Amino acid sequence: MDAALAQTLATRHGTPFYAYDLGVVKDRAQQLFLALPSGASICYSFKANPMPAIASAVREAGCRAEITSQGELAAAQVAGFTGAQMLFGGPGKTREEIITAIQAGIRLFSCESFRDLALLASLAAAEKITFQVLLRVNPAEAPDARLAMSGVESQFGFEESLLTDPAARQRVLLPGLDVCGIHIYFGTQVAGVDAVVANTRRAIAAAERVQAALGFECRILNAGGGFPWPYANDHTPPDLSDLREKLTTVWQSSPLAQAGAQIWFESGRYLCAGSGWLVAQVLEAKALANKTFIILDTGIHHLGGMAGLGRVPRGAVTVQNLSRDVSGEPPISVDLVGPLCTPLDCLARGLKIPPVTEGDLIGIPNVGAYGITASLLGFLSHPPPLEIAHENGQEREIWRLRYGHERHSS
Ligand SMILES: Cc1ncc(COP(=O)(O)O)c(C=O)c1O
Repeated sequence: MDAALAQTLATRHGTPFYAYDLGVVKDRAQQLFLALPSGASICYSFKANPMPAIASAVREAGCRAEITSQGELAAAQVAGFTGAQMLFGGPGKTREEIITAIQAGIRLFSCESFRDLALLASLAAAEKITFQVLLRVNPAEAPDARLAMSGVESQFGFEESLLTDPAARQRVLLPGLDVCGIHIYFGTQVAGVDAVVANTRRAIAAAERVQAALGFECRILNAGGGFPWPYANDHTPPDLSDLREKLTTVWQSSPLAQAGAQIWFESGRYLCAGSGWLVAQVLEAKALANKTFIILDTGIHHLGGMAGLGRVPRGAVTVQNLSRDVSGEPPISVDLVGPLCTPLDCLARGLKIPPVTEGDLIGIPNVGAYGITASLLGFLSHPPPLEIAHENGQEREIWRLRYGHERHSS
């Protein structure tokens, strides 16, 4: 993060805050389009970061929206997505959510179960609308992914064997539903080009099997993605330079592509992780006999849902000192902790960094995805940090998530 910009924003707005560079979001979207077969669609997964300025940047770059809740739908609307640009998915959909989505003009749904299909078909009859449906399939074959969400028993999608059973047809091809494609999401942080290609090959094969068994025309294959990006550290991002060529070969040789189907991918973290920094202030440096605790004005309530879930190794965080040039100073070992009243409020343990002192501004990179909205925001009721979108060194939009209780009147 540019230290001068961080200082300016901190003076103007206080700390902590998330700073997102919209130029980086747009670049990353362009890079991803260039890494995929020509004509491929990218759906932006709002779960990575629903902040409207970011979503608007990916929309301007040509992406669709992949949403799973009424909150994500509201954010997508603020960001300028139309109903026709949105895909509504996720397990355990409620009738109320689907009705809200329909009212917003959404006509494309990813269905994960026979219950989802029956619910949507009943609303199709009531509203006299035909909905397009992607069947989310959990393929029999295990994927290449660090966090696999298919190929193992899971709550996501139809087990492939359920759909290839001859009895499935009458429960899937329901009146009011235009079953037009397959949706497969293998998992996140897929290791690199060869793993993405292998997963896409598996997705194509599974889609062909399900299409043949059910006898519908698969016009869209949403092959997921899981495109990787470092989280909260400055490790080297993936090199996707030969992905386009390899994926194009795999896709174009498939009967689906030859019959004119479209290929779609989904991405959250690859598009926005690199745009975001969490900027915070050192409140106290507490040097004890064997340990130094650096107490920040941020912690797991702002960055750490994922650490809390054990998904972020607590040593793999990078800290940049934005107040001073400390490059020549010998590192010390610190625990980077927050202000919450629990020893679990720890962003990094045994981290080797040059000494920091009270009042220093520090920055944590690559937290534009799964940062604030994946955190324990309500815990201990500290205010959420501001989210500042900037471009070319200028502030563009500032947002803050709501918090605290509001009285409910029924
Ligand atoms: C169905 C689905 N699509 C897309 C994503 C986005 O993944 P990523 O942010 O790693 O691209 C997820 C993440 O869990 C997901 O579950």
